[in-house]
Amino acid sequence: MTTLEPGFGIYVHWPFCLSKCPYCDFNSHVRAGVDQGRWRAALLAELDHYAADTAGRTVTSLFFGGGTPSLMQPATVGAAIDRAAARWRLAPDIEITLEANPTSAEAACFDGFRAAGVNRLSLGVQALDDRALRFLGRGHSAAEAMAAVAVAQARFARTSFDLIYARPGQGAAAWREELARAVALAGEHLSVYQLTIEPGTAFEGAHRRGELATPDEDTAAALYETTQELMAAAGLPAYEISNHARPGAECRHNLTYWRYGDYVGIGPGAHGRLTIDGVKLATRQHRAPEAWLAAVEAEGHATRRRQPVPPAERLNEMLMMGLRLADGVARRRFRVETGLEPEAALDGERLRRLAAGGFLVLDDAGLRATAAGRQRLDAVLAALLA
Ligand SMILES: C[S@@+](CC[C@H](N)C(=O)[O-])C[C@H]1O[C@@H](n2cnc3c(N)ncnc32)[C@H](O)[C@@H]1O
Ligand code: SF4
Repeated sequence: MTTLEPGFGIYVHWPFCLSKCPYCDFNSHVRAGVDQGRWRAALLAELDHYAADTAGRTVTSLFFGGGTPSLMQPATVGAAIDRAAARWRLAPDIEITLEANPTSAEAACFDGFRAAGVNRLSLGVQALDDRALRFLGRGHSAAEAMAAVAVAQARFARTSFDLIYARPGQGAAAWREELARAVALAGEHLSVYQLTIEPGTAFEGAHRRGELATPDEDTAAALYETTQELMAAAGLPAYEISNHARPGAECRHNLTYWRYGDYVGIGPGAHGRLTIDGVKLATRQHRAPEAWLAAVEAEGHATRRRQPVPPAERLNEMLMMGLRLADGVARRRFRVETGLEPEAALDGERLRRLAAGGFLVLDDAGLRATAAGRQRLDAVLAALLA
């Protein structure tokens, strides 16, 4: 596999959290008790179900996402890894990531996750400032998060953590100082997300009532530029809009999504993309945790959508994902997904205008967005595809 090949991943969704963060619209729920035995059996059943279609393939990554997968028992994580190994061939250098909340209780389980086969840990640090953490509704302090990062780094060769910036009242100087402390702490990878107000969240209500003001466009742009500049200078350039890594340390699982490769998605609400006999299929599992569990126990899976992606949609999806990457979409990927070169698949006049504006580059390697293009990718995609 060349480094530009998309790989083949498996995503496992764990939909439970200790509390619901006010900004988060992920499929995550707070429950008093979770029957790990039932959940384990159901996740294994969905792995079996999808293996029936894709068993001949080599898995290059497994990703336990959520919700809070660090609330899974290590035995549950181990059982899913073992089942994947029994049903598929695993690449010798397979990347197995688990998302964890940085509390001391969870750090106590890191040995168990490593013994289960996890080799990459991604921590939701969010901020290195206690006031900001309280505002974000987090159940940990900055000191606790930093301690969890140290525990993770001592146990896993590969680690990453998430930060959220563009918080109310945050200026470029304060952010620069906080990000510099994060970089000093970081290993090979850091995800830096701009706070977005998502529909249906507690923050959306507060925003609507005028109780929560996010930075204006100019401030947000300055914060983004500060991020790019500081991270590049630290040897962790952006390889995707919000993701930074030392070259070679990119998250391979997420690269599979952005390169529009195939992946199995199991667990409540998980999405998948599978190419079977040349047809790209979109899959989605039932979203509500208890209904998902009941469906898997009754039918062996909770697939609620499994349909071909029409050719025009396939081109759109490939560009929506691929233009997030600094490397963009390789010509070979255009040919594989659409049967065409980018010049033939896209409108020449629109391409020329976006290239002249400094937002897109099309050359021998393929099509990519410039830094300015990535900063306003939704508008660039609308102008390219409308
Ligand atoms: C599934 S969570 C990560 C794992 C774990 N549940 C945690 O919170 O520590 C995915 C990440 O998305 C980011 N995120 C979620 N909602 C966001 C929002 N509205 N704006 C910006 N980032 C957000 C957070 O950084 C979060 O860590
Ligand atoms: S940010 Fe993480 S811990 Fe918070 S609700 Fe979302 S998934 Fe759960």
